[in-house]
Amino acid sequence: MKCVDDFRLKFGKREVVPIMIGGMGVDISTAELALEAARLGGVGHISDAMVPTVADRRFNTHFVKQKLKQYKYNVANTDKSAVQFDLGQLEEATRMHVGRTMEAKQGEGMIFINCMEKLTMNGPKDTLKVRLNAALDAGIDGITLSAGLHLGSFALMEENSRFRDAKLGIIVSSLRALQLFLRKNAKLNRLPDFIIIEGPLAGGHLGFSIDDWKKYNLQTIVSEIHAYLVQEKLDIPLVAAGGIFTGSDAVSFMENGAAAVQVATRFTVAKECGLPEQVQQEYFKANEEDIEVNTISPTGYPMRMLRNSPAIGDGIRPNCEAYGYLLDGNGSCSYIEAYNREVALHPTARKVKVMDKTCLCTHMRNFDCWTCGHYTYRLKDTTRKLDNGEYQILSAEHIFNDYLYSKDHLIALPVSQ
Ligand SMILES: Cc1cc2nc3c(=O)[nH]c(=O)nc-3n(C[C@H](O)[C@H](O)[C@H](O)COP(=O)(O)O)c2cc1C
Repeated sequence: MKCVDDFRLKFGKREVVPIMIGGMGVDISTAELALEAARLGGVGHISDAMVPTVADRRFNTHFVKQKLKQYKYNVANTDKSAVQFDLGQLEEATRMHVGRTMEAKQGEGMIFINCMEKLTMNGPKDTLKVRLNAALDAGIDGITLSAGLHLGSFALMEENSRFRDAKLGIIVSSLRALQLFLRKNAKLNRLPDFIIIEGPLAGGHLGFSIDDWKKYNLQTIVSEIHAYLVQEKLDIPLVAAGGIFTGSDAVSFMENGAAAVQVATRFTVAKECGLPEQVQQEYFKANEEDIEVNTISPTGYPMRMLRNSPAIGDGIRPNCEAYGYLLDGNGSCSYIEAYNREVALHPTARKVKVMDKTCLCTHMRNFDCWTCGHYTYRLKDTTRKLDNGEYQILSAEHIFNDYLYSKDHLIALPVSQ
């Protein structure tokens, strides 16, 4: 019987352990977590979601304060179109976040940045171009384009001297999305270096509709895309993601068309993960019925989260002057509309409830939107319960090695504290 360590992911001549830790915004997949993946020979992701905010927390900068100061006059205004990101500051924050992470890198593995294209930042093309190029300039090993799959993103990096040497990949949930991307990018003569195929059991946003995500099966999509690449004679590594909970799950994907796996949920309870420990305990405690897929994200994509997330139903005033990452190119966000509707319906209320949308920027920033993978309810089986009723937090190294060496779906428990 094989284990994950019997396989390697190849990027040309370079080989890495075929385990990617997926990007988890906002700073849930921290630099520390990504650095551990690289040290252990795999691939870690940092995330570029809300980088100025993340830089403030990591490096004591004041990007958010400065933006809020500039647009304070607009806080009570329902029209947010005036609120723009300063591209110079955005570049600086990205360079710091990426650069400091890469300086600390050890080991044979790699560090990529997950770039959520749905963060349209009231200027989709300009802000995305700055984020992508600043990450390349600061030395990132690779970029994973996620949520949104802006078909023109490769072209935004075309002039960068690292366009052909950095590893550039995409996340798709269907063969159709991949075909659209390949067709659109054909004239650049630059294929993706890897394709992550994310199925319906993943955490974060899903690439399926709320009504039919249950109908899809990750292995079926991987097989379909694998057959297409063989037919087209395209040699691009496929990375399966979503619900891969044990090393044996990973092996079964790698024996059926995948060159690697991307995993995230098991690492949400690592000490290197950005979630505060009391939130990690909520993840451990969750049962299957405590996890839902809902439509409260203003991105328009379904999102999986714990039902008791403080973000659900909370009606805070939109915080776009400080954040505003989800403003579309016209300064709109569906949370603003939902919030204004509730305020108009309840003019005397001190605080309204907004059930259909959430202020995702604020709640992700404060770790109050507890997004998670479908198998979060199994996390309690990966550790020990302590005398005080809490669960033991794991090290990223322990989880990584469990994926790497485990056989027969066994999960190694940590050494007791
Ligand atoms: C807490 C959490 C946050 C996530 N955030 C993002 C994100 O910001 N961008 C993204 O592309 N994927 C995100 N994901 C998806 C993961 O990167 C990964 O592809 C997926 O969750 C793998 O499935 P698993 O969690 O069942 O292992 C997130 C997943 C989790 C659990």
